[in-house]
Amino acid sequence: MLEGRRILLIIGGGIAAYKSLELIRRLKERGASVRAILTRGGAQFITPLAVGSLTGEKVSSELFSLTDEAEMGHIELSRAADLLVVAPATAHLMARMAAGLADDLATTVLLATDKPVLVAPAMNVRMWSHAATQRNLARLAADGIAVVGPNEGPMACNEFGPGRMAEPAEILAAIEASFGAGPLAGRRALVTAGPTREPIDPVRYIANRSSGRQGYAIAEALARLGADTTLVSGPAEIAPPAAVRCVKVETAGEMLAACEAALPVEVAVCAAAVADWRARAQANQKIKKSKAGLPALELVENPDILATLSRPGPRRPRLVVGFAAETEDVIAHASAKRAAKGCDWIVANDVSPGTGIMGGEENAVHLITPAGAESWERAPKSAVAARLAARIAETLAGGAS
Ligand code: CTP
Repeated sequence: MLEGRRILLIIGGGIAAYKSLELIRRLKERGASVRAILTRGGAQFITPLAVGSLTGEKVSSELFSLTDEAEMGHIELSRAADLLVVAPATAHLMARMAAGLADDLATTVLLATDKPVLVAPAMNVRMWSHAATQRNLARLAADGIAVVGPNEGPMACNEFGPGRMAEPAEILAAIEASFGAGPLAGRRALVTAGPTREPIDPVRYIANRSSGRQGYAIAEALARLGADTTLVSGPAEIAPPAAVRCVKVETAGEMLAACEAALPVEVAVCAAAVADWRARAQANQKIKKSKAGLPALELVENPDILATLSRPGPRRPRLVVGFAAETEDVIAHASAKRAAKGCDWIVANDVSPGTGIMGGEENAVHLITPAGAESWERAPKSAVAARLAARIAETLAGGAS
């Protein structure tokens, strides 16, 4: 799929550098040619010999090397590439890129290039969440640089959180997507995620425990396969995935309006935990305690976004996928929900408190299609998302649902 594409891989100084060796192997397998720059830090973790053996090309490191400049100068290095990939991108390397510094070969090439750049950050969780790194990240995004990852998980420094470099397969998918090479390239996708908040008065609202993780992961997985993806999200505490258009909303009404504005799409995945009810009237001022008794809270039903999107008509997506959060008789209730809402597939999960699924890192789902129910083994939400996205791609390509 990457036949003839020329990648310039810049390997920064982080322990994740070893994963870049695997990335080179996978890029070569897909027909890409890879040249690598190993920064001084990168060379502390992996050797030029290992990198050169896999790329089959000379590895560049030094800016002021006469032999390197004679063979292929720093400007030529970027000219001879279709895409520059920085993996791992350390906090320091990202800071230098954001500041436009050119104090070694890697940063000089990055400043001299007019080619697209993709970075895969990798660092300690606190370095990642530091205001300076987040500022640099925003700067890089504003400069048009694409970002893949980082992922959340256990880290080499014995800590847990966001900062782990994206896996080689994920970086590869981002590279393919940047060439428009993914199986969903040219297709539009819509994903809803997170809870909604239905205000009662200016300070109080009705909400639920949804974290938005599963929906965000699905949007990211669809974008990785090349889909032009809109994520409509209720209030969630997680950063929007790269390469996804994220529209933030609060209420179910706003979510429906944002979804309708995103149409037409070929696939819609409704993973949001939309509040079923809202307060009939929203007080303009904070409701005060009163000796006269408790305030009456009159509820009205919210619009059903999934059912609305599933309605037959010219704007109906070819494939509409709903979720079913159940606490008993999961498959039976979810199958009934599929019929009631008119969607094509339902991803059903058991959200009973003991499962740790709602708000957790993992999911165990049953995929219910017109052909029946399949139970998928429990896996990280990102893995469930990748499997679902692959299935969607296969179905859209095959023309059936
Ligand atoms: N959904 C929606 N709009 C709503 C309610 C639900 O789009 N107002 C979607 C959810 O995003 C999900 C599916 O409908 O894809 C099922 O949501 P769930 O909460 O499991 O079911 P409900 O329809 O709310 O039914 P119940 O609460 O009775 O189980």
